[in-house]
Formats: sequence, structure tokens, C-alpha cells
Amino acid sequence: MSKIATLEIDGNKYEFPIIEGTENELGIDIKTLRAVTGGVTTIDPGYKNTGSCESAITFLDGEKGILRYRGYSIEELADKADFLEVCYLLIFGELPTAEQLEKFDKDIKEESQVDEDMKKILDGFPKSAHPMGVLSSLTSALIAFNPGSVDVDSEEAMYGAIVKILAKFPVLAAWTMRKKKSLPLDYGDNSLGYVENLHKMMFSRPNQTYEANKIVNDALDKLLILHADHEQNCSTSTVRIVGSSHAGLFASLSAGISALWGPLHGGANQAVIEMLEAIREDGGDTAKYIAKAKDKNDPFRLMGFGHRVYKNFDPRAKIIKKSAEEVLGDLGIEDPVLDIAKGLAEVALKDEYFVQRKLYPNVDFYSGIIYRALGIPTDMFTVMFALGRLPGWIAQWREMRLRKEPIGRPRQIYIGENYRVFKPISER
Ligand code: SDX
Repeated sequence: MSKIATLEIDGNKYEFPIIEGTENELGIDIKTLRAVTGGVTTIDPGYKNTGSCESAITFLDGEKGILRYRGYSIEELADKADFLEVCYLLIFGELPTAEQLEKFDKDIKEESQVDEDMKKILDGFPKSAHPMGVLSSLTSALIAFNPGSVDVDSEEAMYGAIVKILAKFPVLAAWTMRKKKSLPLDYGDNSLGYVENLHKMMFSRPNQTYEANKIVNDALDKLLILHADHEQNCSTSTVRIVGSSHAGLFASLSAGISALWGPLHGGANQAVIEMLEAIREDGGDTAKYIAKAKDKNDPFRLMGFGHRVYKNFDPRAKIIKKSAEEVLGDLGIEDPVLDIAKGLAEVALKDEYFVQRKLYPNVDFYSGIIYRALGIPTDMFTVMFALGRLPGWIAQWREMRLRKEPIGRPRQIYIGENYRVFKPISER
């Protein structure tokens, strides 16, 4: 028997069906709300209580700290899968067979050339440009070199666009970093794996033989998996709403990159390291920064702490914290900011302000410590987040288009001036 929600307004009762997800989540289906109530709408700033869609890609349970991609736990995927397998799983819904993965890898490699004229666009940016702004622009510019829009009714056309962007995005990300470092742009090596090739494109030196480091590439692979999708977060919702106007995949991804850049979202991983560095330069005075974070008159927030969904712990943060300790140990790196981060977390997790608001370390709190250990510049941290999130954005865009979701167009409650007559300037 399906559940019903009853709403009463001015003595009139309205019933709405309640839909139930496969993990027993309940959602009040208000598709008919405005029609049956004569125009009443809902208000929910930041959509904290509003579901935008039904999705079969990622499941989160914020209370239990559960994260699953297509039913598989993040813990198992981070431990047993590689990033390309997870890309395939998120986008197509199943873990690939050996043959499917081999074809996927081959098809991606065949698309890994980027039009040489893209370098002219990259050259137009000053070295001071933030990599996220450059990457968003280059992703949008790709449209000019791949003008055919994606025919979503054609699986073949959709697959073609997907392997194209999975192939070219890492090249553009690596080029963005190398441009800032005045290094020649590297095309990588198609004999390498996806993540190993990314690392080579980022770090190879023209006068040295590139030597892969298994510890580094395994850590990178795990980080990309942990960032691969996270249901309807800010940047994914951006990709969906841009795509809902039937804008192309690359245009939608470019918008998602811009949304991810914000320090309250993916930009937090850069902000965390900057915060930890500031604390270190300030003599490691964590108490001072905890007090600042709690002070309502101080705009300072404990970056890397808190989450809209996770109210106990972010399972990704747990895995990344452990990985940070392992990677730094394996690489023989002593990074004082890791100790500051652990000290900060320890104090905050016992402080009533954070406990009462259910604020815990999130995915961004420790990730920058590993990126730093891997030699990645701080302003490239959010680019690494985007590289991980790419398959999730693609999967969500594809699902939205295949389900023929309507164009996203929220309503509002107007609180401005009532009607008034225009006054000529002589009378103002
Ligand atoms: C990501 O959505 C996703 O899934 C995102 C993500 C993904 O994988 O896509 O997980 C990636 O974006 C992780 C979050 C990275 N951002 C940060 O680390 C920035 C710092 N955190 C916050 O700004 C904040 O916690 C958010 C943005 C993450 C969540 O904000 P909410 O859910 O809108 O919560 P809120 O801002 O309404 O805060 C509730 C209370 C407020 O205090 P009161 O007004 O109730 O007194 O908690 C306080 C806030 O002031 N608070 C913090 C805090 N985060 C929330 N106080 C100090 N430091 C913080 N970090």
C-alpha cells in the first residue's frame, strides 16, 4: 500500500503520493502541488530538504556514513577496484568484464589527442590564472573542436562523447599545470594505465626518463575513486541543470567545474591546506582557530569540516586519513601540517560547538596532505577533485538525459515592491 502525505491549507486538504527508494528513503511527490492548490509553492534555500530527481547511481546515508556507487561500498571500491573500472561502473551501471574494460580503455586512448589549436587558447592565459578557471574554459573550448552535439537517443553518440571527454580532460588538466610551471606540454603515453598516464603527463621532465612510482599512482587512483561521485552535490546539480536545457555534455561539465571551484565545495581542499599552513605559521595555535571557527562574528570556517549530508562521519575522510599516513610513511615524508590536521580534528571532535552541529572532517580535510606529498601544487588540488568527479558528472548527466528529465526551473516567493507607476527622471 503506497504511503500518502496530506497537506492542509486554509482548511483544504491535499494528498500527495510518497515514493519509496530502494534504500527505504521516502519522498513526497509534489509534482501537482501548484496545480491542485492554486499556485502554492515550497521554499527550501539550498535545497536542504528537496530531492531534485530519482537516481540509481550513488547512495549516501549521512547518519550511518554510507557511500555506495551503484550498490558497491566505497570501502571495497577504494580497496579493490581501479579508477577506470569505477568510471565504467558509475557511467554504465555495472562493473566491466575484462573485455569491456579493455575496449573502454582502448576507445579512450584513441581519443587522447587534443587539437593543437587548443594550445593557442591555453597560451592566452596568464600564469597567474587559477587552474580551475583555465580548465573550465578549456573544457568549454573543446566544444569548438568537437561541434557535434550529443544525440542522447543514440547510445553510440553518447558513448563517443563520453570516451572523448574522459580521454581529453586529463590532458587538459596536465597541460594547465605544466603551463603554470613553464614546462613543455606532454601528451603522455598510451602504453600506460589511465592514472599512471595522468601522472606522467603532469610530472614527466623533457630531459629525464619518466619512472612510475607505484605508491604514488596507487594513492592517486584511490583518491580519484573516492571523489568519483556523490549524488546531488552542488557541482553535480549544476551539471544536471545545465544539461536539462539540452546544452551539450562538455558545456554542462564546464559549468560543473566552475561550481566545484567554490571554497564551500571542491575548493575546500585548497582552503584546508592554506588554513593548516596559516596555523603552522601562527605557531600551531589550533585553539585560536577553533575559537575563530566558533565565533559568529568571524567569517572564518574550519575548512574541511562539516557536510550537508554526513552527520556522523564522511567515510571518504576516514579512508583518506589512513591513506595519508601510509603514503607519507612510504614516501618517507614528514609533513607537519598532517600533525596539525590531526590535532585540529581531535580538539574539534570533542568541542560542543562542532558536536552539537554534527561537524566532522569531510573528504577535503586530509586529501590535500596527500596531494602535497605527491608534489601537486596547492592550486591544482581542486583540479584533482574535478578529475575524480568527472565520471560522476558524466553518469549523472547521462542518467538525466536518458530519463528525459524536464528543464530545471525552480520557482520563488517574490518579496519585492508591489506594482508602482513609472516616474520620469524629472520627478524622482
Ligand atoms: C564538499 O555535497 C556534497 O556531497 C559535497 C562534497 C562532494 O563530494 O561533492 O562532499 C564535497 O563540498 C565537501 C564540503 C567542503 N566544504 C568545506 O569543508 C567548507 C567548510 N564547511 C562548510 O562551509 C559547511 O559545513 C558546508 C558548506 C560543507 C555545509 O554547509 P550547510 O550544510 O549549509 O551547513 P550550514 O552552513 O547551514 O552550517 C550549519 C551550522 C552553522 O552554524 P549555526 O548558524 O547553526 O550556528 O554549522 C556551522 C554554521 O556556521 N558550520 C561551521 C562549519 N560548517 C558549518 N562552523 C565552522 N566551521 C565549519 N566548517
